[in-house]
Amino acid sequence: VRYPQLDERLQTAADFFPSCDIGADIGADHGRLSCYLLANNICQRMIVSDISKSSLEKAKNLLTLHKLSDRACFRVADGLDAICIPIAAIAICGMGGHTISKILKNGISKLSGSNVIVSAHSDIPALRETIANAGLQIVAERIAKAGTRFYVIIHARQGHSEYTEHELFIGPCLITGEARYAREYFLHMRRTEYRVRNQLAKTHLLWIDEVLSRLQST
Ligand SMILES: C[S@@+](CC[C@H](N)C(=O)[O-])C[C@H]1O[C@@H](n2cnc3c(N)ncnc32)[C@H](O)[C@@H]1O
Repeated sequence: VRYPQLDERLQTAADFFPSCDIGADIGADHGRLSCYLLANNICQRMIVSDISKSSLEKAKNLLTLHKLSDRACFRVADGLDAICIPIAAIAICGMGGHTISKILKNGISKLSGSNVIVSAHSDIPALRETIANAGLQIVAERIAKAGTRFYVIIHARQGHSEYTEHELFIGPCLITGEARYAREYFLHMRRTEYRVRNQLAKTHLLWIDEVLSRLQST
């Protein structure tokens, strides 16, 4: 049976995983990320977790199908409650920014020393702020395109960080405009901000235009 393909969003998240003994996939749902990480021996073992029993069942079925389930520990749990030992890399992907922020805040003690890989489909500036407040530092951010949508995938590690409003909004690692899809992503962001007619949106537009002008001059 062929392993399932990852879309660009999950592949980007997977690419941030170091080779390690144990990783975690929080909110695993279909289980494709865990399947890829185990099948390619990037993680020797995985904690595969979801708050929903029926979602976790999907992950369990996929890993059983590919004979990988003996290397996985399946847990129905809220966020980082699934974790009780130090984990080299933890992915929390495919949820809203507020949900991921809440998971990080509630589980700060579980994050020290881990590579934290997050991808939210909303409220990314607030998520970046939570990352900083959780004693983590953003070490990389990449943009991925899956279907017609763009996603930001953030890789953070333990470390002190303080971000300005500007960095929180654009992304500390996206500010140079060097990321893949930067032009399309920021043009899309510009269209969204343009519809919001308030003072803050005007500032956001200026910041977006600054990145775009950097892109045009390269
Ligand atoms: C859209 S799926 C994302 C699946 C996969 N991580 C991905 O990125 O493709 C979101 C999953 O997160 C789970 N979830 C939501 N809140 C959660 C929480 N607090 N703790 C663990 N899982 C949660 C949901 O049950 C759902 O299965």
